[in-house]
Amino acid sequence: MDRRSFLFASATLGAGSLWPAGAARAQSPASRSTPMGATNPRPERPARKRVFITGSSTGLGYLAAETLLSQGHEVVVHVRSRERMSAVQPLLERGAAVTVGDLSDLRQARDLARQVNELGRMDAVIHNAGVLSGPQVLVVNTVAPYLLTALVRRPQRLIYLSSALHRSGSTDLAGMDWTGRRATGSYADSKLYVTTLAAAVARRWPDVCSNAVNPGWVPTRMGGPAAPDDLRQGHATQEWLAVSDDPEALTSGGYWYHLQREEPHPAVHDVRFQDQLLAALERATGTPLA
Ligand SMILES: NC(=O)c1ccc[n+]([C@@H]2O[C@H](COP(=O)([O-])OP(=O)(O)OC[C@H]3O[C@@H](n4cnc5c(N)ncnc54)[C@H](OP(=O)(O)O)[C@@H]3O)[C@@H](O)[C@H]2O)c1
Repeated sequence: MDRRSFLFASATLGAGSLWPAGAARAQSPASRSTPMGATNPRPERPARKRVFITGSSTGLGYLAAETLLSQGHEVVVHVRSRERMSAVQPLLERGAAVTVGDLSDLRQARDLARQVNELGRMDAVIHNAGVLSGPQVLVVNTVAPYLLTALVRRPQRLIYLSSALHRSGSTDLAGMDWTGRRATGSYADSKLYVTTLAAAVARRWPDVCSNAVNPGWVPTRMGGPAAPDDLRQGHATQEWLAVSDDPEALTSGGYWYHLQREEPHPAVHDVRFQDQLLAALERATGTPLA
């Protein structure tokens, strides 16, 4: 499915879908017809995929889970604690599986990887969970996605949530506290690192499509009600990269904004910087990227 068709299909299938997930599974695209018997003009949908989305209790993670369920995909959602389970209840009622773990605690992040692996191999993982500030910004936004990448059985596609703010991140890794105990790195730093991680994984694992997505400044809890960008566009690219069979969605090493590739900060494609970052993350976690 190409980009335009994907957006069209997502718009009709998103929240308040016309087709419940069960119906989507039961009917092949070719067999669908309108009440008048004419062939339905809706574009073909991609084959059913299994997608794991971190931080799916609210915001872009929740919305991506909702769209993908509406399209008939299997979705594994994630919440930080049992107390947050109620936030995903509507998704569970629509067939999603749930995993639990606080990403600021690396022991819990490891256990989360175990839970995901127990559910079987994912086709795609969307590393979406994030925080805007506080001492945990590096551990949640960068270290946890690294650890999950290293420990979750390798999927075909990996998508990491970046931000336009990654452009003002620092390339000086000296003195960074990766544990979440001291506030050293900024949000911009964390997003530069996770964008670089996406590119490094694309280089190290040529059999995997690994990409970063800037969702735009959109009105979620993090973005705030005055955010100017389009909320639907804010989750469309990661959904498309996760499930579309469009050849462009099956490319790797990209930095995307609203379904278009853009040039990220130059450090993202600097192999030396990538290797320094991977070495720092390996030291911080004791876990290498195989
Ligand atoms: N919104 C924007 O304008 C914008 C712009 C650029 C990039 N982004 C990026 O897009 C991604 C999604 O953002 P959003 O706007 O949807 O944010 P959001 O509404 O604040 O949602 C963040 C999600 O991450 C989860 N999370 C945060 N810390 C966690 C932890 N320690 N353990 C487990 N889960 C944790 C949250 O769970 P709880 O509900 O339990 O806290 C929530 O599900 C983030 O990576 C963000 O940096 C957003």
